[in-house]
Formats: sequence, C-alpha cells, structure tokens
Amino acid sequence: MALADEARRVAAEFDFTPDEVRNSVKEFIRQMDEGLQKDGTELSQIPTYVTAVPNGTEKGLYMAVDLGGTNFRVCSIQLHGNSTFSLTQSKVAIPRELMVAKTSKELFSFLAKQIEAFLKEHHSNHYHGHIRRRRTTSLEGGFKDEEIFSLGFTFSFPVRQIGINKGILMRWTKGFDIADAVGQDVCALLQNEIDALHLPVRVAALVNDTVGTLMARSYTSPGKTGTLLGAIFGTGTNGAYVEKLDKVTKLKADNEAVYDQSTGEMIVNTEWGSFDNGLKVLPNTPYDAELDKNTPNPGIQMFEKRVSGMFLGEILRRAVISLVKNPDVPLFKDENSATNDVHSTTTIDATSPLWKEWGLDTSFLSITEADASQGLRVTRQTLDRDYGISAASVEDAEAVKVIARAIGRRAARLSAVPIAAIVLATGKLNNSSASTTSDHPATAGSVPRGSGPSDAGKDDVSEDDVIDIGVDGSLVEFYPGFEEYIREALREVPEIGAAGEKRIRIGIAKDGSGVGAALIALVAGKVAADAEE
Ligand code: GLC
Repeated sequence: MALADEARRVAAEFDFTPDEVRNSVKEFIRQMDEGLQKDGTELSQIPTYVTAVPNGTEKGLYMAVDLGGTNFRVCSIQLHGNSTFSLTQSKVAIPRELMVAKTSKELFSFLAKQIEAFLKEHHSNHYHGHIRRRRTTSLEGGFKDEEIFSLGFTFSFPVRQIGINKGILMRWTKGFDIADAVGQDVCALLQNEIDALHLPVRVAALVNDTVGTLMARSYTSPGKTGTLLGAIFGTGTNGAYVEKLDKVTKLKADNEAVYDQSTGEMIVNTEWGSFDNGLKVLPNTPYDAELDKNTPNPGIQMFEKRVSGMFLGEILRRAVISLVKNPDVPLFKDENSATNDVHSTTTIDATSPLWKEWGLDTSFLSITEADASQGLRVTRQTLDRDYGISAASVEDAEAVKVIARAIGRRAARLSAVPIAAIVLATGKLNNSSASTTSDHPATAGSVPRGSGPSDAGKDDVSEDDVIDIGVDGSLVEFYPGFEEYIREALREVPEIGAAGEKRIRIGIAKDGSGVGAALIALVAGKVAADAEE
C-alpha cells in the first residue's frame, strides 16, 4: 500500500464538512436555549452572577489564583485604571498525583502553600506586617479590611455558582478526579486552607477562566465595543458570553438567587466542552471513541475531547499507531526485520512514549504544522529526540503531518461552531453602526500579544460594527493557522458569511484569567461595600 494514500485516507476520517458545521451551529443554538431554561442539560449555561463587563477605568491591587488544568498560578495584579495593568506571578505544575488525590484537602492545602510562598516572596511587607499584627494586637474586631488581600479564584471546572464567591463543584474535567470535592463549595475549601496558614487573604470571587478572559479582554480591548465572548482553547475548551438577563429563565425561577439586575445582562458560562455529549452532530472516528473509553469520564466533555490540547495528541497517537500496526502500511517500518512482532518490525523504540496512552504531546501537532524545513527535518528530529524514532523517512514524516493537520483543522473547524452560534443567538450581527450605540468606552490595550490572534478581521469594518471576542489558551496561541481555519468555517455559515466573519474580531487576552479574576474580585468588593452602607 502506498503510505501517502493511507495517510490521506486516515486524514479524511477527520473531515468536518461545511454541512456538518451548519448543522452543528443549529444544534448548538438549540442546546444553548435549553440550558438557559433548566438544569441538567448538555450545555450547562451556568449563570455567573457577574452582571457587567469592565470598561478599563478600574483600579487597585488584587490577588488572583488560577487552577486551570496543567498549572497552578498565583498572581498579584495592579490595575492602573487606564486599560493597563502590571502583573507579578508564579507558576507551578500541578503534581499528577494531586489531580487524583484521595481527598480534596491534599489539593487545596497544596494550593494554600503556594499562596503563602508567593506572599513571602513578592509581598513580604504585607505578609510580615500581617503576622506581626496578629502577634501584637488583640484589637477587638480583628484587622481592617484593607490589610487583607481580596483574591479572585479562577477555578476552571464546571461549578454551580450560588453567589459571587460560592460555588459547588458539579464534576471534574481534564483528567482531575477527586471524589470528595464534588458537591462541595470550592471557595470554602480554599479559604479553610488559607486560614489554616493564617494568610491575610480573603477569597472574594469565584471565576471560571472563560469569564476571566471575557473580563480581561473587555478591560484591555481597544475600541468602543464591549467584548461579547471569552473563550479558552487550551488544555480544555469553553466559553462565557454576555446574555440578556430575560433569557436566563432558570435564574428568574430561583427565588433565592440574589444579583444586580440593573444592567439587564449576565455573563453565562456555557461549559461547551460538554456540547452534544449525545453525539447527534459531532464527528466520531474510531480514535475518538477509543480515547473516550479510556478517560475517567466517558461520554462526558465530548466536544472538548475533539477540540482541546489535552486530547489532540492522543487522537493523533491512536491514528498513527493504527497504521503502524497494519503490516501492509510502510509507516515507521524496519525493512530488514523478518519477524511478525509489531514492536520489532518498526523503527519505533520499544520504550517510545508513542506506545503509551497520552504519550504524544499536542505540541507535536503545532511543531509539525509549522514545519517548513527541507524534508521535514524538524518533524523528523522531534520524532527522534522526543519519541524514540531514529530512522523516520521523509515519507513517514509527511504521513504523520497529513494526519496531524487533519486533526488540528477539525479541532479549529469545530471551534467555529460555538463562536458562530453565540454570535447568531445574541443577535449581534443584526446591530450595525446605523443602530448601535456603545457604552463601553475604553482606551488602547496594553496586553502583550502572543504569536496567535492579533485582532485580525476588522479591516474596513467600522469600530461600531466589530464583534469582539477574547481568547486564550495554548492551541489558539501556538497552533499555526488555528484562527484562519476557524474563520474559514465561520464563512461557511450562511447567516454569517464573508461579511459577518469580517466583523468578528478575535484577540488574545493573554493571562486573561488572572486579570479577569482580579477585576471580579474588585466588583465583588464593591458589591459587598454597597451592601454594608
Ligand atoms: C474545561 C472546564 C471549564 C474550563 C475549560 C477551559 O472545559 O470544564 O470550566 O473553562 O476546561 O479551561
């Protein structure tokens, strides 16, 4: 069999046609609606209790922590009030064993210890001052509030929010699995461990990373329009958008819910990773199905498992291994071998991570997509150095690249589905400069831009007509051409077309979740102060 033909055959299994894009957008809009009306739906559509986006004039010093998937970040953020901010941060990889710890205490006490280390290193005056006061004062009523950091807690898992700093973990995603945390208030879990270390920190707001991204983008975004959507395409994928309060009918039905109604809007966390868990419209190759079976949450997060960084490498690994195991396909084959044992007939080292589940990192897809070197030298070097394949031929590398590209392209085309659906469902395309007035004045942003989206898509579009979307995450930042593939699919949706696609501005909100969490801690502080007056 010709290797190139076989590679193309496998690549074609990852096609996601224009018709499928259109059908999926329709289904996404239907599931959005359903999720706004009741609980227990595929799209959770979680009301976040955040009812306004910032306009760039917010000021103050805040702390934020971010438990996202791969890393835990602690930061302090000085908001300057002119759409700019300074950020100090530290980052640690979350040890694998803590992601599946026996008790939530193990994870949360680890997090509190990182906060303590950060305070000692970067805010030692604040920290030691606090410890001194604790020892020397016995003031009634404790310390003044301003001596305590307000902290925004970015917790990027599905949480049923019941207040600005209170939320119940619904389920884990992205490989986390700690049974006793499900059903608990994650803010209380963190606050308990912070208090056990006597840190001057109050968990003031609980924030999903997508909500943080939306807030951060709105704070820094150039132009007059408020941001519509904050989206993550990283280890996981999800989005939060600005919805009309009237449409969030399940919240209105909840008599205990307390929130500010004055803006008539609320940010809704879609949890779109679980879009179409029933696989009505999503593509499903044998590699997708096998991967799903081997996760802690089979049948859940089915959209995320086709789109996000945690999974794409594993999809590719399974597709490649299926060809390697076929004796008729000359991929990574040792021509001098006379045995039938798959391990010894290939040029893949027996200890190669390619033989192990999750052994192929998604960054490999970006590397090979970006590889324009003669004879795919970079891809072959990576296969040799990181994956124990010392004798990959140019044809081998080309075959892997064709399949990798198909998987990356499918992920990007799938990513266009929620973007298109949200733009259409919120009626944003119906507003054009003739009819819109904007109430979110903001000056130019100052966020460092990555190599990914750079506010493209606004040529010859009037500022009033721009539909602004903030994104973050390794895929959208580092996968070459991810945004272009998204745009191609957006144009295939007739209600959007080329004209609508141009109005959609996609901009990176780097470190958005940290800044966004600080912004929400600020808003939460204001709300608490107003309530006391
Ligand atoms: C997963 C989480 C979601 C988060 C996303 C991106 O989908 O469930 O809450 O926003 O990953 O990190």
